[in-house]
Amino acid sequence: MRYTVSEVFSQTVLQQSFVFQLLTRGRNEVKGEELGRSQKRLRIFYLASEMMPLAKTGGLADVAGALPKALKGLGHDVVALLPKYEVVAKGKWRTKPIFKSMPIKLGDNIYRVGVERCYAIPGVELYLLDCPDFYDRPHLYGYNDDALRFGLYCRAALEITKAIGFQPNVIHCNDWQTGLVPAYLNTTDFYDGFFICTATVFTIHNLGYQGNFPPAFIKDVGLPWEVFSIEGVEFYGHFSFMKAGLFYSDLLTTVSPTYASEIQTEPLGEGFHGLLSTRSCDLFGILNGVDYEFWNPKTDKLIPVNYDASTIDRKRQNKLHLQERLELPVDEQKPVIGIVSRLAWQKGFEVVLDASDELLTKHDVQLVVLGAGEERYEKAFLKLREAYPTKVGVRIGVYDEPLAHLIYAGADMFLMPSRYEPCGLGQMISMRYGTIPIVHHTGGLVDTVKEFNEETGEGEGFCFYKFSAEHFLKAVERALFIYNEKPELWRKAMLNAMKADYSWKRSAKEYEKVYRLAIQKRVEKVGL
Ligand code: ADP
Ligand code: GLC
Repeated sequence: MRYTVSEVFSQTVLQQSFVFQLLTRGRNEVKGEELGRSQKRLRIFYLASEMMPLAKTGGLADVAGALPKALKGLGHDVVALLPKYEVVAKGKWRTKPIFKSMPIKLGDNIYRVGVERCYAIPGVELYLLDCPDFYDRPHLYGYNDDALRFGLYCRAALEITKAIGFQPNVIHCNDWQTGLVPAYLNTTDFYDGFFICTATVFTIHNLGYQGNFPPAFIKDVGLPWEVFSIEGVEFYGHFSFMKAGLFYSDLLTTVSPTYASEIQTEPLGEGFHGLLSTRSCDLFGILNGVDYEFWNPKTDKLIPVNYDASTIDRKRQNKLHLQERLELPVDEQKPVIGIVSRLAWQKGFEVVLDASDELLTKHDVQLVVLGAGEERYEKAFLKLREAYPTKVGVRIGVYDEPLAHLIYAGADMFLMPSRYEPCGLGQMISMRYGTIPIVHHTGGLVDTVKEFNEETGEGEGFCFYKFSAEHFLKAVERALFIYNEKPELWRKAMLNAMKADYSWKRSAKEYEKVYRLAIQKRVEKVGL
């Protein structure tokens, strides 16, 4: 059944004065440029499967912990929902129970969930979704029933927002774990009056993780079988949560302008390049920011010696602590190259490992590595430590926030040799700490790191343009040459890096524009 216009009006829709504005002023008058604090507050429902400081496996958590705060700073109302994983429960955050046993219908099953208000992110109305059978587990992802775990998260998100009476103008979904929300809103829930004017924006953080499952799960998550089509959630014979998000959302964003172009091509589109190029006009590349409160060398409580651009010489003392911490010879002069990363194929560490003998025998450097992930990389870095115990310091297989801060602050250079990189936060964090990034020229690394130019003194990093050990090594050698031979220029590069502004404010405004456009699109879609 389709609602008539008068039926729609009779619902709560007209309370949304933005829609009313659209109707009375004519749609074409509402342009992105008209945005600003003085305009109506948006109600934004922010969904992501990890969020700092509660649960993190990578940069998604940094973004989801920071962007909602920045949106709040622009004057919007932001509600967020996170599964109550084991790590969240152990975090002992201040919470208040809202619903003890809320029934959620997912396919043919009813799940009873708890909902708690959590006060961990200032300014953000954060809720925790409690379903111990699904979430009280040691890892966030990687279970056979992930389709049900995140199907429930998506379904519960829609039910909870109703139950708390928060009628969103926009639901901002992030990565595959949230992909079913736009699917529900455009199929089973399309005519639900509560969501009639709710737009969906889907952000791609990494196309390499797609949430592909056997088609049998379609019924289990309560979607109609018809969605299993190329014009729907089908992706090479799988039921793909990522495809659901990409296909059904009103607008799409990804986390850097360069990655937005790259994913429309076969080499980096991960099979979605066709769909993404047909939706090219709906796809926006918005560079991530960094939480400048959390990542601030001047106030960072996790580093031994605080500093800023005007006291940059103090940075060196952190190096001594870092060397000591990783049992390396303590030497202020020695260049220290740092890595803090998931150890995954995406991150391109083959070039480091292939170049490591030449790098470590030819040059007087130290390499420090903090990383966890695939066994082959974990083993390779442990072996490197054995081979060069005075030159390589490692902490492998763990997530260690304090050590990550110490590496950003204490290293001289920071490596991101990624094969592909949607945005990358490590290079921006390292710049904030005056640590010079050495990066492969791809994705967000292109948009954030400019090669240091000896002649002009511009730039804040070193790039290699071809993904090979040889080109990687040459970039490191360019950096080492400036570090060793031209300390004044090195200092200039450090200051350039520290001056670069990758705070969230600018990007949050871009999201605001996209939200407005998505709302306009949704209004057109429902035929208001
Ligand atoms: P990705 O999201 O692809 O992993 P990003 O560069 O966007 O890459 O973000 C990585 C984030 O995770 C950074 O905040 C980085 O400091 C952090 N990180 C990665 N591995 C570890 C680790 N083992 N311990 C602590 N922090 C880590
Ligand atoms: C992903 C990407 C990374 C990006 C992060 C946050 O994990 O791999 O490049 O910075 O998401 O958007």
